[in-house]
Amino acid sequence: MSQQYWEERYQTREMPWEKGAPSPGLVDFLTSNPNLPGETVCVPGCGTGHDVREWAKAGFRAYGYDIAPSAIRLGRERTRAAGLQAEFRQLDFLREEPPFPFDWLFEHTLFCAIQPIERELYVNAVLRWLKPGGHFLAVNYLIPDRDGPPFGTTRQELWQRFSPHFDLQAEWVPRSYPNRTGLELMLWWHRRLPEEQVN
Ligand SMILES: C[S@@+](CC[C@H](N)C(=O)[O-])C[C@H]1O[C@@H](n2cnc3c(N)ncnc32)[C@H](O)[C@@H]1O
Repeated sequence: MSQQYWEERYQTREMPWEKGAPSPGLVDFLTSNPNLPGETVCVPGCGTGHDVREWAKAGFRAYGYDIAPSAIRLGRERTRAAGLQAEFRQLDFLREEPPFPFDWLFEHTLFCAIQPIERELYVNAVLRWLKPGGHFLAVNYLIPDRDGPPFGTTRQELWQRFSPHFDLQAEWVPRSYPNRTGLELMLWWHRRLPEEQVN
């Protein structure tokens, strides 16, 4: 979907994904894992930044990226209002370069927001933005929909796309926003170092 499409969704306030709170699965993950390694986290398709602020509260240098200028403006305003520190920048995660490679990358409703035909670009972008040895934490939305966004996916597709580059460290069904209960699957991947790559 184009930048114009997403910007219009913010301008017209047609934002059913906007729950006014971070992903419950992320909140629980950060609470249960207070001593995570690494310092930096990238949140692509960050929307108004609830998840970015949750990582910042957990002590990370948190960076939110979104294609829609209004999302970035709201992200900055709400972060300032919350008295937190995080960086926000407008860009196309699929096609642009990172400022530096990140220790963590957090996925939450970007994979299902892009066109399915762009999913190979998405995997390549994750590999560009994340350090070898870095962590890729994803809240995946397992819905059957083909006429999105949101576009559905399956565990099988996620395995096919990510297991060539990542080892799966943990997998669980998280606590969710009420209308997504039972539809989310969290996958915590560890990106292989070049010498660990098997093919
Ligand atoms: C469904 S919303 C989810 C927002 C946020 N993750 C949340 O859960 O509240 C998808 C977001 O991805 C952004 N987006 C779509 N394509 C993008 C791209 N190629 N690069 C960066 N952001 C993108 C949209 O502007 C929108 O804010």
